[in-house]
Amino acid sequence: MTNEKLNIGIILGSTRQGRVSPQVGEWVKEIADKRGDANYEIVDIADYQLPFLGTTDGTEPGIAAWNEKLNSLDGFVFIVQEYNHSITGALKNALDFAREAWNNKAAGIVSYGSTGGARAAEHLRGIMGELMIADVRVHPTLSLFTDFENGTVFKPAELHLNNVNAMLDQVDAWSGALKTLRK
Ligand SMILES: Cc1cc2nc3c(=O)[nH]c(=O)nc-3n(C[C@H](O)[C@H](O)[C@H](O)COP(=O)(O)O)c2cc1C
Repeated sequence: MTNEKLNIGIILGSTRQGRVSPQVGEWVKEIADKRGDANYEIVDIADYQLPFLGTTDGTEPGIAAWNEKLNSLDGFVFIVQEYNHSITGALKNALDFAREAWNNKAAGIVSYGSTGGARAAEHLRGIMGELMIADVRVHPTLSLFTDFENGTVFKPAELHLNNVNAMLDQVDAWSGALKTLRK
């Protein structure tokens, strides 16, 4: 065992113009960086310009780059927004574009929506089971009504801070434990 820091990706699940996920991701990263226990980075699915799975020959550089990025990570925090009671199509497509790169790693969820994005988050947990991602229990849920102004400007309530740290505690612990399986 080395004392090398874990690499944790904060994955933005939405890609639409005008999305609020970057605000939420930056807030999580700011909290995470203060801990100093791991290397945290924002991973923006939009940067990879993934095609819709199965519609191309699979040689787009973004597909390889996406897998390389996931391979470099030990764990994940998914920034999840609720679209029609589930995760975004963009996140599902990005999840489908890798397999081994997800396996035997840990993940937490920070979600938002009219009911805290809870329904989307529960769908994601089912998908993570198939991808052999160990999803942690603590799950900060943000309300579009009380944690955002006009649904667009992120103003998180103070109470979420403890929950984010508790979620990160679990992601870090499990990411470290699962790393031993991947050797
Ligand atoms: C196609 C679509 C479907 C949506 N469906 C839901 C929903 O079922 N439940 C909900 O709470 N919010 C729903 N919303 C509202 C989104 O949660 C809200 O717009 C949020 O800001 C989206 O995240 P984003 O800004 O990062 O894209 C939906 C938004 C879109 C664009």
